[in-house]
Amino acid sequence: MKRKIIIANWKMRPNLRESQNLVKGVLKYLKKSKKKKKLSKLDIVVCPSFTSLSAVPQMSKFKVLRNVFLGAQDCFWEEKGEFTGEISPAWLKEVGCKYVILGHSERRRYLSETDEMVHKKIKASLNAGLIPIICVGETLDQRRRGLKEYVILEQVSQALSGVSIDKKQKIIIAYEPVWVIGSGHAIGPEEAEYMNKIILQRTIDLFPLDVVKNNIRVVYGGSVDHDNVKSFVDQDTVDGALVGGASLKAKEFIKICEAIC
Ligand code: PGA
Repeated sequence: MKRKIIIANWKMRPNLRESQNLVKGVLKYLKKSKKKKKLSKLDIVVCPSFTSLSAVPQMSKFKVLRNVFLGAQDCFWEEKGEFTGEISPAWLKEVGCKYVILGHSERRRYLSETDEMVHKKIKASLNAGLIPIICVGETLDQRRRGLKEYVILEQVSQALSGVSIDKKQKIIIAYEPVWVIGSGHAIGPEEAEYMNKIILQRTIDLFPLDVVKNNIRVVYGGSVDHDNVKSFVDQDTVDGALVGGASLKAKEFIKICEAIC
């Protein structure tokens, strides 16, 4: 069985001071947790904004749990150069990041991020030694037109065709139906399982089976909370969750982690 992962996407919500307080809260509830031992079997990733990254120290340093990691919410596809406003994946590594979210639907929507851009960012982040968390998902309109499966297969193919993953590299794919994000109404777990199977099938077409088994995890995202998270993670192919709104309250976030232990 693959190691489960819970990823907190803080988006452009908490500022520097609020991020620091949120970390303190997360650490406080982790320390208090009666399931600490079980929590250590999970990977927990916290993704603050760029400006809070270096101020939110690697939580593993607090020795509360060794499996709490730092992630960023985006990166550029070049390592260095005349790219005003962009952030190098190597620099994310420098400030202690282990993960980076790529292709989130909010970036696709508001910044016209394309599959090609996501593809380049995946390659660059793998080269820098980061683990990309690749977001895919259909809009409500695409779903209503019966294109759900097609959209997801296309996004996964375009993101990952021509990417090679060696034994030490890992990727996470997050299935996030766009219309569910931030709505407070998640899809049913069976549907997440069905979509994850489609994603996995495409990764089997693209990579050797041992890479799919050992290096690729597929998670669900979209209105996940402590009440519904277990129903998703109980599915065979759902290896964890990407959590937005519910990760902004330290206690709720730890409850989500505890719920799947
Ligand atoms: P949500 O966000 O949990 O608030 O729906 C998820 C995400 O955008 O990654």
